[in-house]
Amino acid sequence: MLTPRAMLANAAVMPKVREAPVRPALNPTSLARYVDPMPILPIAHPIGTRPHPNDPSTRVPFYRIQMRESFTQLHRDLKPARQWGFDGVVPGPTFMTKSGEPYLVEWANALPDKHFLPLDHNLHGAEKGLPESRTVVHLHGAKVPPESDGYPENWYPPGRSATAFYPNAQDAAMLWYHDHAMGINRLNIFAGLAGAAIIHDEVEAALNLPSGKFEIPLVIWDRMFDPNGQLYYPVSANADAPWIPEFFGDVMMVNGKAWPYLEVEPRKYRFRVLNAANGRFFRFSFSDGRPFHQIGTDAGLLPAPVELKSVFMAPAERADLIVDFSTRAGKTVNLMSEYFDIMQFRVASSGTKDTSAMPSALRAVPKTPESEAVQNRMLPLIEWDNKVAEPMIMLLGGKRWMDPITEKPRLDTVEIWNLINPTDDAHPIHLHLVRFQILDRRRFDKFDFQMRHKLRFIGDAMAPEANEAGWKDTVRANPGVVTRIIVRFEGYTGRYVWHCHILEHEDNEMMRPYEVVSTTAASGPAVTGASAAIASGFTWCRAR
Ligand code: C2O
Ligand code: CU
Ligand code: CU
Repeated sequence: MLTPRAMLANAAVMPKVREAPVRPALNPTSLARYVDPMPILPIAHPIGTRPHPNDPSTRVPFYRIQMRESFTQLHRDLKPARQWGFDGVVPGPTFMTKSGEPYLVEWANALPDKHFLPLDHNLHGAEKGLPESRTVVHLHGAKVPPESDGYPENWYPPGRSATAFYPNAQDAAMLWYHDHAMGINRLNIFAGLAGAAIIHDEVEAALNLPSGKFEIPLVIWDRMFDPNGQLYYPVSANADAPWIPEFFGDVMMVNGKAWPYLEVEPRKYRFRVLNAANGRFFRFSFSDGRPFHQIGTDAGLLPAPVELKSVFMAPAERADLIVDFSTRAGKTVNLMSEYFDIMQFRVASSGTKDTSAMPSALRAVPKTPESEAVQNRMLPLIEWDNKVAEPMIMLLGGKRWMDPITEKPRLDTVEIWNLINPTDDAHPIHLHLVRFQILDRRRFDKFDFQMRHKLRFIGDAMAPEANEAGWKDTVRANPGVVTRIIVRFEGYTGRYVWHCHILEHEDNEMMRPYEVVSTTAASGPAVTGASAAIASGFTWCRAR
């Protein structure tokens, strides 16, 4: 293993320099907006039942989903584009399930042997000689046994499949499933390997929220196209090291179509919004400045609706929104993200009667008391740059994927994780298996931290925004800020991962294994102060 100093030396000789990627010729302004209807995502259907893995006397729904290549027109004026999708559709079919009703999915890899996007063999886990089209599926937000979680190293090649068991013993929420293969998951998800999974439950059903065709998932991402209408993933200027630090596209897509429109009735809708972009953060708002309500976060309902005029979403975050079009009958309203067009809603002049409710109270979210925490982990988020200040590698806790596991929470205990971000980027940090709450965010002096290894706060701790004060599984760790989350490690023991959900970061070491250990096992050294972590190996790094 390389020491940090050797790493840096190595970095200096490895010319992994990023330059502005060559622009593809397709100019996104040449594509007309709002000419394609927004696809309503198909629902996944079980093909039968199978014995419950832990209780063979009962049977559970069994799905078989095949990952395969397809060609689809992503805009009226584009040729069909090559994509990789679940059951050949992008985004994949939506799982609509009920809390407490477990199910099994056989995820089959039926992809072509050759990848069509630029693999970078320098990345750990993406070495030359491995099957190019390897995949493993993770259900993001699911509380599942480790063997069903889609561990990044458990990938398999075309012709193989893996069956996952989803106990579904968790609250109503919007989850999503996507590829998680080590070192290439930014490319596999970009190719289209992602889909939504919605869990409903009784508590939610009693609220009489808009449902059926008035509850619509919106899976949003940005893409780039080449002149032939094919997906274009830019590369660095170094052909031997094509990794780029972030992907930002210029074509905005909802449910797999570029700038679509949706015909709606003048009434309330429930939109289950997922930011499934590789690296882009969105700040959604409506063209007429209309307010709307957020009723849920990543992992379930908020205590009460929060009125908003815009909602900020990092990659992998979900927002459960109620939007009322009744004041806009016969007109259009566009969804925007700052200066980007996203989609258009065409409101009919009349519609069926709206009998749905917008309750003032939704679901209690009891605060996890800080006094219950048995561990307080200091976890710096690190970027190592090359000589010209371009990011080279991203690390969590100053460690690489292959370093020994340092985060070993005990089952059924509570921990506080301090995500210390001395970089210039916001990193959406996601933990598998668990849901958590945001305690607060507090600015610190980056210079003191990097040069003198001191964590010195320069502001007051700020409580999360009202629309973040629910159950989360992904949190924005803002630059120059310590973000504290409180996590109860429930469900299963075993090995999971936590990572930045900017997929380019995740693929370049910004992902670490963690292990939930039994209540009697040792949970590793208790790190209670900043100094231990600060001394733990990123002394030589320079944040951007
Ligand atoms: Cu969206 Cu590791 O997950
Ligand atoms: Cu996940
Ligand atoms: Cu990141």
